[in-house]
Amino acid sequence: MDRPRITIFDTTLRDGEQSPGCSMNVQEKLRLARQLDRLGVDVIEAGFPIASDGDFEAVQSIAASVRRPIIAGLARACKGDVDRAWQALQRAAHPRIHVFLATSDIHLQYKLRITRQQCLEQAREAVSHAKSLCSDVEFSPEDATRTDVGFLCQVVEAVIAAGTTTVNIPDTVGYSMPEEYGNLIGTLKEKVAGIDKVTISTHCHNDLGLAVANSLAGVQQGARQVECTINGIGERAGNASLEEIVMAMKVRRDRYAYETALTSEHLFASSQMLAEITQVPVQPNKAITGRNAFAHEAGIHQDGMLKNPLTYEIMTPQSVGVPDSRLVLGKHSGRHALALRCEQLGHQFERRELDDVYRRFVVLADRIKKVQDSDLIELICQVKTGTTVEATKAVSPNNGVSSAKKLPAAAVPFQRAVSAAAGAGNPHPAQISAQISASTGQATVSIGFAGHHSGPHSDRRLDHHADHHGEQEDYLWGV
Ligand code: KIV
Ligand code: ZN
Repeated sequence: MDRPRITIFDTTLRDGEQSPGCSMNVQEKLRLARQLDRLGVDVIEAGFPIASDGDFEAVQSIAASVRRPIIAGLARACKGDVDRAWQALQRAAHPRIHVFLATSDIHLQYKLRITRQQCLEQAREAVSHAKSLCSDVEFSPEDATRTDVGFLCQVVEAVIAAGTTTVNIPDTVGYSMPEEYGNLIGTLKEKVAGIDKVTISTHCHNDLGLAVANSLAGVQQGARQVECTINGIGERAGNASLEEIVMAMKVRRDRYAYETALTSEHLFASSQMLAEITQVPVQPNKAITGRNAFAHEAGIHQDGMLKNPLTYEIMTPQSVGVPDSRLVLGKHSGRHALALRCEQLGHQFERRELDDVYRRFVVLADRIKKVQDSDLIELICQVKTGTTVEATKAVSPNNGVSSAKKLPAAAVPFQRAVSAAAGAGNPHPAQISAQISASTGQATVSIGFAGHHSGPHSDRRLDHHADHHGEQEDYLWGV
């Protein structure tokens, strides 16, 4: 049976851009729009043409050069805004005018100072006008989730009669709970005449951290378009994160029997491009695209990962465009990952020797936040030359044990080993490639399993595990 198709409406360039510090110029917006096209989004909301000449120009140039997706321009519910949006969309292959008007009493009373009746009329008129220009019209009752439900149904019914093709239900202030938001979509489906002729859309903000959960709840109740942004950027706490929505549907196909047209392998590049353009870094623990999303530091986890990535990863890094998982060497790491990194740096140890390296490593990792490869090499050097930890324990101001100058002569080949490992090589027969984290220089082990998640990885054990017996011992030893 065919799975229902969910339209992904990306509003990074409009709602996302409204996020403090995230404004983009025309060229940057165009570059990102091309990436969104590559990613496969269905709709790109390119801007709010009446807002500024720059926004107008951005919508105009994206409309002229990005031809596959629908290009939407935002407009308040008034003739001037709608005309300006339509003007900007003139060269679009697939234009959409997106009209919005607040419907909650709070907004009507304090912001717009109009009655419900006036609101109803204004929405109807604006949509009729937009429809006279463009066949594809979306309407958003702003602050829908805090709107009286009876009145919301009335407005939605009126704009459908006036020709809207998509009805978007914004949780503008991120106030809804998932069940509540899902029920609201269900109520509209049940009560509004003509609702089956239009697409229902979700638009959820993240003020309570529920934007993705709310969007998914909406989908389960019949919404077929999701509005979202790359990295979840947007007003205040942001919008629903596109990458999280897409991967939730992909990873949990058993719960969400829907399809999107996105190529998830482009998610990471899209996220990185946005961060580069806006200079707003992605938070390290951001789901899917954060630096730590596929990084493992705890020894027990690293041990599991080395045996089979299924133990601690629910999707492959490659499936979202991240090159490899990383085992980060820190105070929680175990011998298993440490041994692997040493091996990548060109040093194999007998078990007792490795214990020595490990003990020194733990002492050091307890003291400094990031163990660099150079620190590790120094430890290796100490073990090989029989130097005591105390002799080389001085911590340099920049976080590491003092560097090359303090190393004994034997350090030179070790240094070469680092660069060799950090280069392109894949020195380990188990197809585990070495990389030094470009951003931090921290000692990490990148693991690129060819058959990641496709089965057990017993063939990928390290050679020095030959003297291990039994899974339990291996498990403990790896910690
Ligand atoms: O959050 C919101 O209500 C909006 C509308 C303009 C769709 O962004
Ligand atoms: Zn919004």
